[in-house]
Amino acid sequence: MRLGHLQFDHPLMLAPLSGISDYPFRRIAKENGCSLVVTEMVSAEGLLRKGESFLKIGKDENPLSVQLFGSNPEILADAAQRVESMGADAIDINMGCPAKEVIEAGAGVDLMRSPERVKGILKKVRKKVRCPLTIKIRSGWDRENINAVEIATLAEDCGVDAISIHPRTKAQGFHGQADWNLIKEVKLAVHIPVIGNGDVTTPCLARRMFEETGCDGVMIGRGALGNPWIFRLKNFLKGEERVILPPSLEERRDMIHYHFSLTQDHYGEKGAVRMIRKNVYWYTKGLPYCASFHSRLSSLKEREALFEAIRSYFDFIKRREKCHLFKSMESRSATGGGEKTF
Ligand SMILES: Cc1cc2nc3c(=O)[nH]c(=O)nc-3n(C[C@H](O)[C@H](O)[C@H](O)COP(=O)(O)O)c2cc1C
Repeated sequence: MRLGHLQFDHPLMLAPLSGISDYPFRRIAKENGCSLVVTEMVSAEGLLRKGESFLKIGKDENPLSVQLFGSNPEILADAAQRVESMGADAIDINMGCPAKEVIEAGAGVDLMRSPERVKGILKKVRKKVRCPLTIKIRSGWDRENINAVEIATLAEDCGVDAISIHPRTKAQGFHGQADWNLIKEVKLAVHIPVIGNGDVTTPCLARRMFEETGCDGVMIGRGALGNPWIFRLKNFLKGEERVILPPSLEERRDMIHYHFSLTQDHYGEKGAVRMIRKNVYWYTKGLPYCASFHSRLSSLKEREALFEAIRSYFDFIKRREKCHLFKSMESRSATGGGEKTF
């Protein structure tokens, strides 16, 4: 897949995830095979006001796309120019966010209600930046107003280099199923790359999205939470049928430690403990007795206490695994049961 001058041989991308896809998260995705990472949405206005402190770009995470949100064409264009000068390899404009505050400001998915505003923004931004420019859209506002194809063709006419589509309407939020047929419709309507997004949580689903929609790239969001291994798909996507094994307990535990060390370097120790807890939750979700471990997580405010709880939890399930009780405990944890505390 090509994105302007950027070329990817395994087009798997990390979706922008507000409050989640920070530098440590992006770097881990990248190290596991993700070809393009996208920052969480960044306010164009905030960026212009606060400058570089508002957005940290790591030296080793290129190619990187920065996602901007806003509604004012001049402000978006100036912010895009600023971001390009800061080292972004691509710029994405958010046209899909359904959050109330974003919509009230006329940004996010609200833009899809007005193709004229979309056109005004894209023309201005296109003139100001040379790097690849993309947009991320939803299906449309609601079931009666599905206009992804119209917005995609308009964007192509304005010089946009690729379209990412999460085919749910604003009204759907994150409910129901993403309508992959719409990805196919958009792909058939434009000549620029189309990146499919929505409900890809396993390697098989990634491959199915490519096959069923003809999309050029697949963007993964929630499927990457606590699961950077999902990006190790290069050979699988090329047709290799080898079974992809889930990560072992040791790999999970080591990944937590690695994620923590990157987070600590980025935010300092106190900030790291706060930031890592949700990731620890995702890395251990579905493991035996996780419910009882998770219930303690939010109370662990110090690094030592957190690490001790992680060590004790992993030691416990490891011992049980050795005792061949693993399988029966797995089914208990699936029901949220488990009286052991960690
Ligand atoms: C917690 C969370 C934060 C998100 N933040 C953003 C964002 O900043 N920008 C954006 O375009 N989409 C955002 N999204 C939407 C995702 O990028 C993606 O389109 C959606 O989750 C569907 O893909 P998935 O099924 O692979 O998760 C967010 C989604 C979630 C769950």
